Amino acid sequence: MPNRKTLIDTLEIQGTLSREEFICLLNGYSKEDAEYLSRKARNTAFQYFDNKVYTRGLIEFTNYCKNDCYYCGIRRSNTNVNRYRLTKDEILSCCKQGYRLGFRTFVLQGGEDLRYSDEELAGIIFAMKEGYPDCAVTLSIGERSYESYLAYHRAGADRYLLRHETANEGHYGKLHPESLSLQARKQCLRDLKTIGYQVGTGFMVGSPYQTLEHIAEDLLFIKDLSPEMIGIGPYLPHHDTPFADKPQGSFELTLFLISILRLMIPNALIPATTALGTIHPMGREQGILSGANVVMPNLSPVSVRKKYELYDNKICTGDEAAECRVCLQNRMKKIGYEIIAARGDFQPLDMNITAGAY
Ligand code: 5AD
Ligand code: FES
Repeated sequence: MPNRKTLIDTLEIQGTLSREEFICLLNGYSKEDAEYLSRKARNTAFQYFDNKVYTRGLIEFTNYCKNDCYYCGIRRSNTNVNRYRLTKDEILSCCKQGYRLGFRTFVLQGGEDLRYSDEELAGIIFAMKEGYPDCAVTLSIGERSYESYLAYHRAGADRYLLRHETANEGHYGKLHPESLSLQARKQCLRDLKTIGYQVGTGFMVGSPYQTLEHIAEDLLFIKDLSPEMIGIGPYLPHHDTPFADKPQGSFELTLFLISILRLMIPNALIPATTALGTIHPMGREQGILSGANVVMPNLSPVSVRKKYELYDNKICTGDEAAECRVCLQNRMKKIGYEIIAARGDFQPLDMNITAGAY
């Protein structure tokens, strides 16, 4: 087996490795290897995005969910959750505030809540696009039919986030009840691509029963799907779930994987996630320094933030977090990066021949 530095060089040149090579790279890498990889990933991000970080205003508009994923704090069976829904007007007022703060992408995220009909959702999306025509709208509302996805896209939605969670069938079955399947999830991702969304996928690092083999499969799945956006974060336990006692994922491994993903898809939009900021006080900064190029501050009304708890100790849920945008701007500045007010669309590779040109 070649040493890990050689594997990292190969990854940088080829944009992928074999399953066995990925497993070898992930298995017992040294601090030095991690620094070598991180430096390469940071340089790659810098070539494409300079020191600019894109920002997305996250609006968590409903914490009702019909699903019962074993890891998630707002799962249907958790009767301790204080459930809420935002109205169209409340969502639009989040956008109004967000636009003033410089956001040019709004992410509508919620549980799988069937109370909002397709017509209603399309109406909300249409109103967002009408009020803020220079902004992108990203949806993150789970599995829907092709027709529903098409209706949202026609209403103006530009992007869709749907993590695959794990690319291994057996592992998928350990994280979800039988009503959910990896096949259905993959079909949704294919539908979204066909319709023309910019698509984001991803997985939790260190989710219960995850092995390095599974992670290698996640990486190969992502390479094959070739998504425009890739979101990963450490698994964090929630006290009211069947996985309450499972250990949290590794911070270092999450950073290592962000760097791998940056080398695999150099122009991808990769966020330093809230989960990364929760597991470590400098998590989001470290994520950017490992090759991420997006942050997603919370734009939800402060009154509901505590209720959208997918895992324990989620940051940005207190009164002091009213202004995540300013907080993140300062945090990025401290590490030499700058948050910019731009839609931050995915740019296909051949348009990027002059690296760092935009
Ligand atoms: N820890 C970390 N991430 C979680 N998610 C859900 N529950 C948890 C948890 N306990 C992630 C899932 C989902 C995204 C919205 O949040 O990957 O796709
Ligand atoms: Fe939310 Fe700092 S980003 S409080």
